Amino acid sequence: MNMRVVWALTLSVVAQAATEDAARKVLASRCWACHAQTALGGLRLDSREAMLRGGRSGGAVAPGRAEDSRLFQAVKRNHPSVNPMPPAAPLTLAEVQTLQDWITEGAPWAEPGDHWSFRPLRPARSGDSIDKLIDAALVARKMVANPAADKRTLIRRVYFDLIGLPPDEKEFAAAYGDQRPDWLSHLVSELLSSGISARSGVDIGSTSLGMAKTTSQERKWFPMRTRGAIGTGS
Ligand code: HEC
Repeated sequence: MNMRVVWALTLSVVAQAATEDAARKVLASRCWACHAQTALGGLRLDSREAMLRGGRSGGAVAPGRAEDSRLFQAVKRNHPSVNPMPPAAPLTLAEVQTLQDWITEGAPWAEPGDHWSFRPLRPARSGDSIDKLIDAALVARKMVANPAADKRTLIRRVYFDLIGLPPDEKEFAAAYGDQRPDWLSHLVSELLSSGISARSGVDIGSTSLGMAKTTSQERKWFPMRTRGAIGTGS
């Protein structure tokens, strides 16, 4: 998914949650005294199901259609056959608008424990390798994965990833010549147990420290150790 789409979706989810919260506040402060447990007129306004079911005269909320919702007609106070609500103190224009927006947006109503922020994180689907997930994302974007790296590239990448340095001639030849089907896992184990990662970590650390020290005066990169690098940059 494109970042702009993700952002737009995020904003709309946040906006919808905001409308829901605002509507909930209006209902709680202005209606629940008579339309929660007491259910005057047979109407409860503290769950979505109850609002859809409505009171004595039928459904109170028609999601998406404010003008057709008895709840809205009652607070708008302009419908001949629906009693104005709350009976004594009319809602402010802003409160009426809040309820109208909320119904127009489909009257979202997270029941307690139902809101996404209360749900447990879904575990990653088991049995799905990361490649499957990446493939699905690529298909969705009409993109094609790069071909698998050839052995030469792979060796270089593994070296860079694990010890931060490219292989020298001898190391490269040894890895390249290894014909075992699981040569890669042997190489990985070898590099992990070589102790070089710690050393190059220190190198990288001192390089960044050196940069941090000099950035205020001039940009000066410390030369990378190369140990007779093999191959092209990748
Ligand atoms: C002081 C009590 C009181 C408050 C506060 C109140 N109502 Fe009511 N409501 C009633 C009574 C009593 C009835 C039943 C008689 C009637 O329909 O006039 C009723 C009926 C209704 C009905 C019609 C139910 C049906 O099916 O006939 C709707 C819709 C309604 N109220 C919405 C609201 C909304 C929305 C609010 C808050 C903005 C609200 N009421 C606040 C007392 C209240």
